[in-house]
Amino acid sequence: MKMTKEQKYRLIEQAEPGEIASLEKKVEQCHWRQEFHIQPSTGLLNDPNGFSYYQGEYHLFYQWFPFGTDHGMKYWYHLKSRDLVTWADAGIGIAPGDYFDSHGAYSGSAMAHEGKLYMLYTGNTRDRDWIRHPYQCMAVMDESGLITKWEHPVIPNVPEGYTDHFRDPKLWKDGDSFYCVIGAQRANLTGCAVLYRSTDLHTWQFQGELRTGLETFGYMWECPDYFELDGLGVLVFSPQGLEPSGDENHNIYQSGYVIGKSLDTGTRILEHGAFRELDRGFDFYAPQTMIDPQGRRIMVAWMGLPDIDCPTDPNGWAHCLTLPRELTLHEGKLIQRPIPELTTLRRKREERVADALTSESKTYTGFKGTAYELICEYDLLSAKACGIEFRASATEKTVIRYDAVSRKLVMDRSQSGEPVAASYGEIRQCAMNGDRIKLHLFVDTSSVEIFVNDGEEVFTSRIFPHPESDEIRFFADKGEALFQAVKWDFT
Ligand code: FRU
Repeated sequence: MKMTKEQKYRLIEQAEPGEIASLEKKVEQCHWRQEFHIQPSTGLLNDPNGFSYYQGEYHLFYQWFPFGTDHGMKYWYHLKSRDLVTWADAGIGIAPGDYFDSHGAYSGSAMAHEGKLYMLYTGNTRDRDWIRHPYQCMAVMDESGLITKWEHPVIPNVPEGYTDHFRDPKLWKDGDSFYCVIGAQRANLTGCAVLYRSTDLHTWQFQGELRTGLETFGYMWECPDYFELDGLGVLVFSPQGLEPSGDENHNIYQSGYVIGKSLDTGTRILEHGAFRELDRGFDFYAPQTMIDPQGRRIMVAWMGLPDIDCPTDPNGWAHCLTLPRELTLHEGKLIQRPIPELTTLRRKREERVADALTSESKTYTGFKGTAYELICEYDLLSAKACGIEFRASATEKTVIRYDAVSRKLVMDRSQSGEPVAASYGEIRQCAMNGDRIKLHLFVDTSSVEIFVNDGEEVFTSRIFPHPESDEIRFFADKGEALFQAVKWDFT
């Protein structure tokens, strides 16, 4: 059910008596609630925000609209953790409602500095004619956990040459200067990212656009994130308006990165290679990274996309975040691995040591479930293909299949259960080589994250099967394959 403007732009204090409680009841009854992913208690979750480390804890916020699954009045909802696995609920982090964020506290980032956590975010406002006026605003958390918004925005205007699509600042510090990149749309309706600099976090100077080689690359870049890894510069962003081509760009909007020499903040030149999508699955958007005390670059993303209905909408909630992944560089490409801390979730273990598969699929005792971790390695002897059918039953299955002839790894969710965004296609695929393949799956009640060959590729997707669809079938095609698998339940 779509809400009216009035319903969408209410503050939480304006809830009808019992409204949130009755929504919570509806949410509880949903059989697609996740076991170990971050999800909203009611309403809609989107981008991860303010991912940071402060006073011995990881902090992670997400965009939250409490009243339903529309994109309405957005809050920053706050979680904290010592291990990136178990998250404590810290309540609302940033509430909108001031003149500079009257229509939502939109996405942004956070950085610890001199004993405080600084959060730079976009205040979304609409005037009487519903024209958007974005502001870049600051909120600060102190040692007691109290978050205070500054009285006035730090960047009150959109510079000339850009439209009101100007948001999602990502902060970092370099020497004595602070920088942020902001996602923008040029007046000619092409997307880009711009750079600001500050010496005190209060006053920010517009430096100009990042000079990438991507002059006409979509109509808007959301959620830019710049960081350095192994001495190279990486710009991650979520461009909107790219055309599908080959195996690329089949989701409604994309998320990806370019890598090059580190950004020259003076000339703003970022010499880089080709844009690559970060994920091969159906549901991945607006990732944000942080560097932790161990020096790891960790990324979390929204396991969802804008402008797509979700089968849980009628139950009053939508979407979740991905698991945290560590990013490393290998031969000019980002590698994503689930952080090792996730092994603490492992409970009951099942193992299948070296078994031969021929042209039929096999199931094994103990290898079933609706929330588990599964690592599976295949050695294609004479077989031409191999893979796994999971969350399977007589009528449903989600399939990951490696075809050694066409050299493609293909995920098929056409029979995964309740369809999602089917008009954007029900398979996703990418090129893959070799006669061995390792598939590392994190299956939750309504999602799967498949790490391929230790993070060379990742397929991240929501799936909406019946709770009874819990079989796991291993298969090889047109020949023999050797395989081994290990699985852990999470409960
Ligand atoms: C990306 C995005 C951001 C914006 C936020 C609003 O999904 O559209 O650009 O700040 O979501 O919730």
